[in-house]
Amino acid sequence: MLRSFFIALSQNKQMRAFSERSTLGRRMSSRFVAGMTLDEALKACEDLNRQGMAVTLDALGESVLSEEHARRTGRLYAQMIDAIAQRNLRANVSLKLTQMGMDVDPLLAEEVVGELVEQASRLGNFVRLDMEGSGYTEATVAMTERLFHKYGAAGTVLQAYLYRTEQDVERLLEQGIRIRLCKGAYKEPASLAFPEKADVDANYLKLAKRCITSGVFCGMATHDERIIEELKRFAIESKLPKTAFEFQMLYGVRRDLQRALVMEGWGVRVYLPFGPEWYPYFMRRLAERPANLIFLAKNFFRN
Ligand code: FDA
Repeated sequence: MLRSFFIALSQNKQMRAFSERSTLGRRMSSRFVAGMTLDEALKACEDLNRQGMAVTLDALGESVLSEEHARRTGRLYAQMIDAIAQRNLRANVSLKLTQMGMDVDPLLAEEVVGELVEQASRLGNFVRLDMEGSGYTEATVAMTERLFHKYGAAGTVLQAYLYRTEQDVERLLEQGIRIRLCKGAYKEPASLAFPEKADVDANYLKLAKRCITSGVFCGMATHDERIIEELKRFAIESKLPKTAFEFQMLYGVRRDLQRALVMEGWGVRVYLPFGPEWYPYFMRRLAERPANLIFLAKNFFRN
C-alpha cells in the first residue's frame, strides 16, 4: 500500500513543484541525489572511481513537455559526455526518453538521443536508455535497436516484473545489445507484470543467469543480497570471468554491499543522479523502501 502511495506521490505535479523548491526537500534527497550541479556530480564520480567503482551519470528529469526543454536537456548530456572524456572518468550516462521529448514527439526524442549516442560512440563511451512505465517499453526497446545498429554505443534496461521481458532479453541478446536488468520501479497492472514479489525475484534470477552467460556485457542492477549471492555462486560455478558482467546499484543505497563487492573483485557501477529535478526519482526510492523515510528523518534531525 505504501509503495502505491509513494508512486502516486511521485506523479503529483503540485507536490513536485513545491518540494523541488524547498530547502528541506533538497536536504532530504541528498542521500540519494549526488548534488544539484554537474560539477558536484563529477566530484562524486571521481570519488567513486577512486573507490574502484564505475559510474553512470543521470541528469534527473522526466516528462518534459516542450521541444526547448528536451533540447536543453540534450545539451546538458552532451556536456556530461564531454566532461567524462576530458576528466578521463570511468563513467557513462543514463537518460530517460520522456526527458528527451518523447511525449512531445518521438522523432524529436530520437534525434536528440541519436546525437548523444553518436557523440558517445566517437568518444568510446556509452549511452543507456533507462526504462520507464510500460507505455514506453516497446518504443524504448525499438529505439535502442535502431541507435545501436546506427552507432553501436547504446543499450537499454529491462524490468523483470514484466511478462514480456523474457522475450525482450532474447531479442536484445541476439543482436548483441547490452542489457541492464532491474526488477522495475513503476506501478503496473497484473495483466502486464507479476503482482507477487516472489515471482518477480524468481524471474529476475532466471533472466540474470541468461544475461551473464550470454557473452554480451550486461549490468545486474539490484541491491537484493540473496540474488547477488546466488549470481556470484553461479558465476564462479560456471567459470565465468569476473569481468563478464557488472553489478549496478543506486547512489546512496547499500554502500556497504557496493564496497564489499569491489573488495571481492566484482565490477560495480553506481547510478549517480544529480540536478534540481529530483522529486519523482526520490519518491520512487521511498516507494521501494518506505523505511527510508524514517531513516532520513532520523539523520536529518541528528545533523
Ligand atoms: P528489492 O526492492 O527487492 O530490495 C532488496 C533490498 O535492497 C531491500 O531489502 C533493501 O535492503 C535494499 N533496497 C532496495 N531499494 C532500496 C532503497 N531505495 N533504499 C534502501 N535500500 C534499498 N527501474 C526501472 O524501472 N527502470 C530503470 O531504468 C531502472 N534503473 C535502475 C538502475 C540501477 C543501477 C538500479 C540499481 C535500479 C534501477 N531501477 C530501475 C530500480 C529497480 O527497478 C528497483 O526498483 C530497485 O533497484 C529496487 O529493487 P532491488 O532489485 O534492489 O530489490
